[in-house]
Parts: sequence; C-alpha cells; structure tokens
Amino acid sequence: MTWLITGGAGYIGAHVVRALREAGERAVVYDDLSTGVADRVPSDVELVVGSTLDRARLDRTLERHDVSGVIHLAAKKQVGESVEQPLRYYRENVEGLRVLLAAVTAAGVRPFVFSSSAAVYGMPDAGLDGGLVTEETPCVPMSPYGETKLAGEWLVRAAGRAAGLATASLRYFNVAGAASPDLADTGVFNLVPMVFERLTAGEAPRVFGDDYPTPDGTCVRDYIHVADLAEAHVAAAHRLASAAPGTDLTLNIGRGVGVSVREMIDVIGEETGLTTPPVVDPRRPGDPARVVASADRIATELGWTAKRDVREMVASAWAGWPG
Ligand code: WQD
Repeated sequence: MTWLITGGAGYIGAHVVRALREAGERAVVYDDLSTGVADRVPSDVELVVGSTLDRARLDRTLERHDVSGVIHLAAKKQVGESVEQPLRYYRENVEGLRVLLAAVTAAGVRPFVFSSSAAVYGMPDAGLDGGLVTEETPCVPMSPYGETKLAGEWLVRAAGRAAGLATASLRYFNVAGAASPDLADTGVFNLVPMVFERLTAGEAPRVFGDDYPTPDGTCVRDYIHVADLAEAHVAAAHRLASAAPGTDLTLNIGRGVGVSVREMIDVIGEETGLTTPPVVDPRRPGDPARVVASADRIATELGWTAKRDVREMVASAWAGWPG
C-alpha cells in the first residue's frame, strides 16, 4: 500500500514515515513546511509541498501516487497560540481536514488515521485520585486547539460513516524523545526541551506550581516515546487496511504511567549531568493536575503497548538536542 502522511516533515510525522517504511509500506509526504523540515523526509520518499486547504493539489497527489490510505497529522498544535489565533486554528485544523476528507472520499481512499490529542479531555476529573482517563471520559476541551481536535474527530467519524471509510482517531498523550538525533523535536514548547533549554543556558529549570493535589505537588502526565507512538500509527493503519467500511476507532495512546514534573526533571538531571535545582514558579493557567491514559483499549484493539520508558525518552531527546 501507499500511505499519504500529511505533516510527514514534522517531528511526529517523520517518525510515522520511518516506522511505516520499517514495516515495508510505501510513503508519500504532504506538508506545507510551515513548521515541518524537508530534511526530515528520507531522500527516497517523495515530499509534496502543499496545504491541506489546497483541494486541487490533494486530488493530484492522491491520483498520481495511487494513494491507498491516509495518515493525517498536518495541523497547528500550540495551545497558547490557539487562544490568540482561534480563527487560524479552526481554518487549518478543521477546514483543512474537511477539504482533505472531501479529496479522500472523492478518490475512493478508505483507511484514514487522524492525529488527535489528550487535549480533547481538558481537565478530566477521571485523572484525579490515581484514576485513568479512558476513551469514555467526557471530552471538555479547554482551548481552541483542543476544540479543533475534538471537532476533527466528529468530522472524521461523520464523513467516514457517510462514505464507508475505515477511520481511527488517535489521542496522543505527552510525546517526547526521538528515534534518532536527526528526528528530534526542534520546538521548545514542552517540558523536556524547556528544561534542556534552561539547563544548557546555566539557568534553573522552572516548575509551574508545586501545590497540586498530587504526591509531590507537581503536575502528573503520561509521557510516551515518539517511536512507540509512531508504531501505534502503523498498527492502526494495518488494522484499518482490512477493516469493514464504517469502522471507527477512538484510541488513547499513552503508557498508563503517571510521571510528575519533579520526577521528569530528576531523570533529566541523571541523563544530562546538568543538575541545577529547579525553581518553583506560579501555576500555568489551564494546567490539569493529573492526566494519565488508560491504554487498555488500544492494547485490545491493536495489540499495541508502549515499550520505551521515560529514561529512553530523555536520553534520546538529549542526543538530538542542538544546544
Ligand atoms: C507538562 C507539564 C507543565 C514546562 C501540552 C498540550 C497537549 C499536548 C502536549 C499537543 C505541565 C509543566 C512545563 C516547564 C513545567 N499538545 N512544565 N515547567 O501542557 O501537559 O500538554 O503538550 O498536541 O495538548 O496541552 O505539556 O510539556 O507543556 O507540560 O513545570 O518549563 O510540565 O506545567 O504540568 P502539557 P507540557
């Protein structure tokens, strides 16, 4: 099969391309290079530079490469930016998806994997008191970014039902690490790179709040290695390729293991040798205390479980850190 990977020049998308090829699949990358990097695309994989809002280019790409399945990751993904620019986020993440689905259904392509996010859950009560967030936990997104991902899931499901697609929405938890140094995350927007940046500048890492109702007072998250995440996409793609029309899966992708900000900073100190003690800053608005996935459904549906731990995430991210 030939898979079209939108956003395949991005941090996560490039890992999906790599994992697909390791599984023996053909891949074509479609990316507008707004945040993607052309060098992340292997030289023997074609890169089509285009927007998901460009229907004509999508039509041509699907036809020319005889695409038989789509994995859609192209999107804007900064929570704070989405609060400032909601119209842009709805346009790129929701309208871009609508145009892509129109092209996909017109071309008769059936398997469709959608990149969603734990941001759809917002501040889930289910995460407190040691509980896990299941796919049945109510979705109450707290940002325009999270709203566009939830609306995207609805759009995928509705279009999929109407056109007989086989679809999956994958709700990523906190992604970290790299499969190789050249594929490392280049943005400094999440905990691990933000701590690297402070430490390499000789500054103390920042902890946003240590008075949460968690064991050490800092926020707890479910960190997942990007190489594990990429392998989950391959498992989903394979499942959808032979699934009945109308199949629709919604799956958390996490490890089911909670790690606090302080625990993460400790591992970073051990892996980098940079041990400047953190400073405690005020809480960041909108941060939930604890968000940890139940990863049972994906294990049952796809036979996938994460293999790599937090130490491997930190070590591999550090190996690709430019600073
Ligand atoms: C993790 C924890 C911070 C930096 C976001 C999006 C989510 C998804 C992943 C896109 C929090 C704390 C951070 C620092 C800190 N995005 N922190 N000091 O907020 O869980 O999730 O990214 O798909 O939708 O919301 O991730 O890495 O920003 O923060 O104390 O210097 O680390 O407060 O508790 P978050 P994060």
